[in-house]
Amino acid sequence: MTDSAATTRSRPLIDPRKALSFAGALWFVSAAIGQLAFVIHIAAQYYVSTFRGDFERMDEGVIYGFISGDLLGNALFLSHVLLAFWITASGPLQFIPQVRNRFRTFHRWNGRFYLTVALLTSSGALILSYLRPHFGSLALLFVNTADGVLIIAFGCLALRAALKRRFDDHKRWALRLFIVVSGVWFFRLGYGFYFFITAGEMPGSHNLSGPADIAVASTWIVALAGLELYLSAQRRPSGGLKMAAAAMTIAAAGAVLVSSYFAAHMFWLPTPAA
Ligand code: HEM
Repeated sequence: MTDSAATTRSRPLIDPRKALSFAGALWFVSAAIGQLAFVIHIAAQYYVSTFRGDFERMDEGVIYGFISGDLLGNALFLSHVLLAFWITASGPLQFIPQVRNRFRTFHRWNGRFYLTVALLTSSGALILSYLRPHFGSLALLFVNTADGVLIIAFGCLALRAALKRRFDDHKRWALRLFIVVSGVWFFRLGYGFYFFITAGEMPGSHNLSGPADIAVASTWIVALAGLELYLSAQRRPSGGLKMAAAAMTIAAAGAVLVSSYFAAHMFWLPTPAA
């Protein structure tokens, strides 16, 4: 057997490195589509209501929304839902390589904006969560609090790595930040997925207090674990690990699309008039 024949034989059919980055790009495109549906809902529900001065309409689909006489709580709620638009719209733009490489100044300014909005939204949301009686179980409050605290922590770590010009670290922290910032979106997707796999039965889900509600609220933790696996497969030389992580990421991309479809029907699309 000649050397070249041996090389051809040992070369894998699919390059694991390329498979992994293809899977990552596929996941990202699915997430961008799902987040687009969420951001359109935020604009249609909260911006349209604000411009019309129709604050009652904003209470549809939330637990408390506006409470008569609660000036601070209402201000925090309004700023939270209005900032939610900007954070959801600006985040995905940071991860498009063509935008990052060709429009560096835009990437830097959008990054500063994203980070500032992330810190403002999460600290405001934490205050709002403890200012008002908590809804659902204590476990739900804990999961949401952890999400808010991690947004602040990952945001600071992404900024620190960028200032020290450690760009590989910066990218990793920015990806983790993106996952935790998307915690609320994952929460809705979790319900969409649960609805899909239980054909609408959704056992264990009641008033945000059932075991299924806590599991669904923790969807962002599963996503964060998936990201860690992806990042570790990227760093390690093992082709098998890269292929396994690529398969997991492609499955996750499919789950994101299916869940976004059902979440859109459950939460984001206007309900037809009776
Ligand atoms: C940073 C990313 C976040 C985004 C994009 C976001 C988005 C939203 C949106 C759109 C709503 C209105 C409900 C809806 O239409 O779905 C909302 C409500 C709310 N969010 Fe967030 N949120 C984020 C983070 C958080 C965090 C980390 C917490 C908790 C610490 C939190 C606590 C709340 C609370 C308490 C409400 C009001 C619910 C009510 O009055 O019933 N949010 N959020």
